[in-house]
Amino acid sequence: MALRLIREIGDEVLTKRAKEVKAMTPRTEKLIADMLETMYESEGVGLAAPQVGILKRIVVIDIGDGPLVLVNPVILKTEGEQTGPEACLSVPGKQGTVTRPNYVVVRAMDEHMVEREVEAEELLARAICHECDHLEGKLYVEFVEGELEDVTDEE
Ligand code: NI
Repeated sequence: MALRLIREIGDEVLTKRAKEVKAMTPRTEKLIADMLETMYESEGVGLAAPQVGILKRIVVIDIGDGPLVLVNPVILKTEGEQTGPEACLSVPGKQGTVTRPNYVVVRAMDEHMVEREVEAEELLARAICHECDHLEGKLYVEFVEGELEDVTDEE
C-alpha cells in the first residue's frame, strides 16, 4: 500500500465525472487499498477516487464502524433531512453547513465486485452522499448554506 496525493479544490480532476468500474483488476485493488490508507492517514471519514486523481467510480468510507468500499455506487432511495457541518480532504482547513438526506439506500459492489445494498442514516448517509457527489465532479462547497468557515485545531 502507498499514500496517494490528495487533489485540492481548483484541480480540474475534481470537476469531472468518474467512469464505471467494469472489472476488478490488481491495479484497482491496489487503488482501493491506497485510498483506505490515505483516508486513515489524513483522518478523513471518506475518500473518492477522483480525490486521488483517478476518475473511477470508487469511494471508501469509515465513520468509525470499519471500512466500507463502494464500487459503482447508485443511491436508490433518500428520506428525511439533516443539516450539519461538513468538510472534505480536498478543501483543507474549511467546513460548512450542508443539508443532506437523513437516510439513504445505496446499491454498490464491494471490492470483490459483489453487489449489495447498504442502508445508512445520519453521518453515514451524509458521507455516502458527499462521496457520491465527488463521482459527479461536485464538491460540498457548492451546497454550503452561508459562509465556508475556517476550522481551527484548538477548541
Ligand atoms: Ni470530499
